Amino acid sequence: MRNPQLNRHGELTHLLTLDGLPRDIVTHILDTAETFVPLAEREVKKVPLLRGKSVFNLFFENSTRTRTTFEIAAKRLSADVYNLNINASSASKGETLLDTISNLSAMQADLFVVRHAASGAPHLIARHVAPHVHVVNAGDGWHAHPTQGLLDMYTIRHFKRDFTGLTVAVVGDVMHSRVARSDILALTTLGVPEVRVIGPMTLLPGGLEHLGVRVFHDMYEGLEDVDVIIMLRLQNERMRGALLPSPQEYFKHYGLTEDKLARAKPDAIVMHPGPMNRGVEIESSVADGPRAVILNQVTFGIAVRMAVMSIVAGASND
Ligand code: CP
Repeated sequence: MRNPQLNRHGELTHLLTLDGLPRDIVTHILDTAETFVPLAEREVKKVPLLRGKSVFNLFFENSTRTRTTFEIAAKRLSADVYNLNINASSASKGETLLDTISNLSAMQADLFVVRHAASGAPHLIARHVAPHVHVVNAGDGWHAHPTQGLLDMYTIRHFKRDFTGLTVAVVGDVMHSRVARSDILALTTLGVPEVRVIGPMTLLPGGLEHLGVRVFHDMYEGLEDVDVIIMLRLQNERMRGALLPSPQEYFKHYGLTEDKLARAKPDAIVMHPGPMNRGVEIESSVADGPRAVILNQVTFGIAVRMAVMSIVAGASND
């Protein structure tokens, strides 16, 4: 079966997942993003690539970083941007997701940016829309957060230049994290030789070894000599039952402190997709310290989302 996010010519027409996305396309997105970064320093922070196009932001789940940076990115590409207020929309009266999409398509939508609690919702929309309409996944359920994965890779490449000699640790609630899934797929695609996953047994899904990662339950052991640490948020809203003794106990074993960070390489960088739970996943002195690149991730997210939207919008119509 054809990859649903590529058209007949092998061009990226939707971005739904990093699973199966060829390395040359991932690299092309990162290279394109690099061309957009200097735009932030210009007085007029705009290019005309999406002039005349209508971008609809549909966030069925809350967001600060992703929604705002998609809006900034679309505006910098000169698109007309519409943020649907889901709580005030007719979704609350029972209108289905696909009926919502059909009606917004009747308003000449060109690109939908979709965050949804249901894994697969962006795929469903991509199958439903006309060939000239594009869908970008802004996070679906437990499944994927591909633009977060890409901006994380951009950040790593910016600070470390080359993926092929790196050891990267992904720490925490991997089980419920769409960010972890997208990051692990991207790291593997880009040739990172050692990807480690660190967390308690209750928060690590089975089958991680099949993805080519090394699993650790002891954070001091897992962080030994790593180049990059990606901390994850505890996804309390997705947890069923008591998976942790207490936030204090979690912090003791899996919170990133100065003491645990000392196990990593001296120039290791610390990442977190946000929002952070300070004192639970990460100590404030680390989150705000010189090794943290957490706000750089947010800034790079604008350029990466510009790259993704301009690339999918530039794909030929099947
Ligand atoms: N990283 C991330 O997805 O943050 P938001 O939920 O604020 O968009």
